[in-house]
Amino acid sequence: MSHAAAKPAILISRLLPEPAVEAARARAQVDVHASEQPLPRAELAARLKRREGLVCLVTDLIDDDLLASCPELRVVSNVAVGFNNVDVASATRRGIVVTNTPDVLTDTTADFAWTLLMATARRAAEADRYVREGKFKEWEFMVLLGGDVHGKTLGIIGFGRIGRAVAKRARGFDMRVLYQDAVAADPATERALGATRVDLPTLLQEADFVSIHTPLSPETRHLINRDTLGTMKKTAYLINAARGPIVDEDALVQALRDGTIAGAGLDVFEEEPRVHPGLLGLPSVVLAPHIASGSYETRIKMANLAVENCLAVLEGRIPPTPVNPEVLSKSGK
Ligand code: GLV
Repeated sequence: MSHAAAKPAILISRLLPEPAVEAARARAQVDVHASEQPLPRAELAARLKRREGLVCLVTDLIDDDLLASCPELRVVSNVAVGFNNVDVASATRRGIVVTNTPDVLTDTTADFAWTLLMATARRAAEADRYVREGKFKEWEFMVLLGGDVHGKTLGIIGFGRIGRAVAKRARGFDMRVLYQDAVAADPATERALGATRVDLPTLLQEADFVSIHTPLSPETRHLINRDTLGTMKKTAYLINAARGPIVDEDALVQALRDGTIAGAGLDVFEEEPRVHPGLLGLPSVVLAPHIASGSYETRIKMANLAVENCLAVLEGRIPPTPVNPEVLSKSGK
């Protein structure tokens, strides 16, 4: 490769922290859509057409049609750990590397799952509204009573990095921790986290808090539905900081209305940014706009890692966190 080789051309599809964009500009010709709004599909396709790299978010749908229309594309770098918005099989077929941003967001996401868990059990959002609405006239013994967290049973669906970080935090609350995962953690990890692997029916029947930390896939879509909700305790809370479609929202709204379960803390929704109108009317639900990884520190780390992943591929190096590493070995990159 000659020293005069042109810098690779990349598209950054959304507003990202400035240091990440600057790092990209130093090594690539960068087109940035510096907005919080996603690019309309046709514009995304048009601006990506002659680009070799894409840095994108989970709200960008990178499907087979889009990939087919970008013959020069060599890397799709998702600024997220989840990558259900990318057709990875199609990318792999086309020799396009897909990367994500695991690890850097694990603890921040686990912190927020706990934020939802605590807020839901102790009715923190309702309490805030109560005070703002001027209802705190007298200290009342029986007002806004919630459920205890300490000493209860936490059921974790999906025992990967984030699920384990959620389990670790439960130790300080003297909780019993159950988990369900296709793969068993090694005994030393189970011991260190005080976690026991069970099947999903057992987890749902026994947990006081069910927290979802599994990727969205055809197998996990609507894993939480009318039937599975019906097996949970009436006093149980459902926490979802993974992906919205893992929960059948119609069924969840009905279960909350009927008192099948006690409450829910949700950071993700089936059709974001739409929120099921039934959820908006339920005081027992704590809602957040998909911000589980949203600390300043972590969002900067995610953006930096995504830019590094993208440029590493374009500069002929192994990216730090590929999703389909088989593409790298095939092309000898
Ligand atoms: C965010 O949703 C992520 O997958 O990182």
